[in-house]
Amino acid sequence: MSVRHAEPYRDVMELVGWTPLIRLRSVTDGVRTPVYGKCEFMNPGGSVKDRIGWAMIEAAEKEGKLQPGGTVVEATSGNTGLALAMAAAARGYRCIFTMPDKMSQEKVKLLRAFGAEVVITPSAVPSGHPDHYLERAHRIVRETPGAVLADQFYNPANPEAHYRTTGPEIWKQTEGRVTHFLAGAGTGGTISGVARYLKEQNPEVQIIGVDPKGSILAPYFHTGEIPEGDPYQVEGCGNDKVPGTLDLDLVDDYVTVTDRNSFLMARRLTREEGLFVGGSSGLIVHAGVELAKKLDDPDALVVTVLCDWGEHYLSKVFDDEWMRSNGYLTTESATVLGLLREKERDGFDLVAVAPSDTVRSALTAITSHDVSQLPVLADGECVGSVTEGDLMGRVIEDPALLDAPVEQVMDGPFPVVDGHLSAEYATRLLTRENAAVLVRTQDGIEGIVTRYDVVRSLTGDAA
Ligand SMILES: Cc1ncc(COP(=O)(O)O)c(C=O)c1O
Repeated sequence: MSVRHAEPYRDVMELVGWTPLIRLRSVTDGVRTPVYGKCEFMNPGGSVKDRIGWAMIEAAEKEGKLQPGGTVVEATSGNTGLALAMAAAARGYRCIFTMPDKMSQEKVKLLRAFGAEVVITPSAVPSGHPDHYLERAHRIVRETPGAVLADQFYNPANPEAHYRTTGPEIWKQTEGRVTHFLAGAGTGGTISGVARYLKEQNPEVQIIGVDPKGSILAPYFHTGEIPEGDPYQVEGCGNDKVPGTLDLDLVDDYVTVTDRNSFLMARRLTREEGLFVGGSSGLIVHAGVELAKKLDDPDALVVTVLCDWGEHYLSKVFDDEWMRSNGYLTTESATVLGLLREKERDGFDLVAVAPSDTVRSALTAITSHDVSQLPVLADGECVGSVTEGDLMGRVIEDPALLDAPVEQVMDGPFPVVDGHLSAEYATRLLTRENAAVLVRTQDGIEGIVTRYDVVRSLTGDAA
């Protein structure tokens, strides 16, 4: 392990920023363009918002609006609240948040854990109403001496923080080789600040906004008109109005990603890359990987933002039941056994040979059942495997092998997985080396899942 953090820090705020940039491997398998993730979830408060929590407080101090004993107010329930609460705790300020009553108790408890005060407002009131959470925040500022509103959607300290920190870090970490930067916009602070810095270094760097399907930002970018907007479930990015901190002049393109693709990618980032992130990171990486495929250029360098830590989404993105009930995972294909049942419904059964069967009988089984590979089973265990291409090649070279026992020519066994494991897990085992996996239930080896089955299920060709 290389030496990091060799010196002690003055306080937690010194740990904000200089987050690692990590090359994404598994989710870009087979793609020539390198894609990197900027690990904002590794900030001490677990999100990219730590940068602005601190910066907005510092800016208010510099402007003389915030003085010792002062109060920071914001209308938020999300990561910005946590970032402000953390910074306020470290600097000894009082902190008050307003948020609608539909927000989860967990979020309220998290902010209170930092000593913040939380004012719950009714969600059933329209914007502009005195009890609306935004109006309440303004009123608290007016009525509390020494209070300032952080105001992340309009505060220039927000994009400025990314211009001063996130942008230069990406430039340095890529040694100026970044060619494409992708981010979602909630306030637009991240994308606008980073874009301004990167374009100052190299005007050719392409800045791509990524929007959840349903948000108005991408349509507004393309048409100049604000559409109705539709609900979406990815949190932290997208908007139903255009925030003051978003500078669309710096953005070259805006793409849209569905909730489903965002959540599935967040799960893949966690399970395949070990990067525990929320749905919006999945949204941005999904768009990054699609772009990387299209570019097909090993000299390009795509940077995505991994915005926040996955823990807040344990009962959503990372909960199979929630995913299924929202239609993001289909019930059947969510487990290996599900894939197997789909296949059995379509009339495919497990075909296998024994080690002592002849190569001739193995080839007959392969052709008559129209399969590409067979497991070799002995006493209910997989002891080897044969594939059509390999067997044919060997028999053409040496026809006498037709009467040899399969055990003389077989390859290693297929991996065996428990039926209740996720289909994603089995899919990952299907590599160039493993054409298939066997599925075990309490009754023993019950079936086989091949690359073909997974593709069939993914493309919806299964019944
Ligand atoms: C969870 C989360 N936090 C923060 C951001 C960045 O937001 P902003 O545009 O407000 O800088 C995003 C954008 O994708 C996000 O998803």
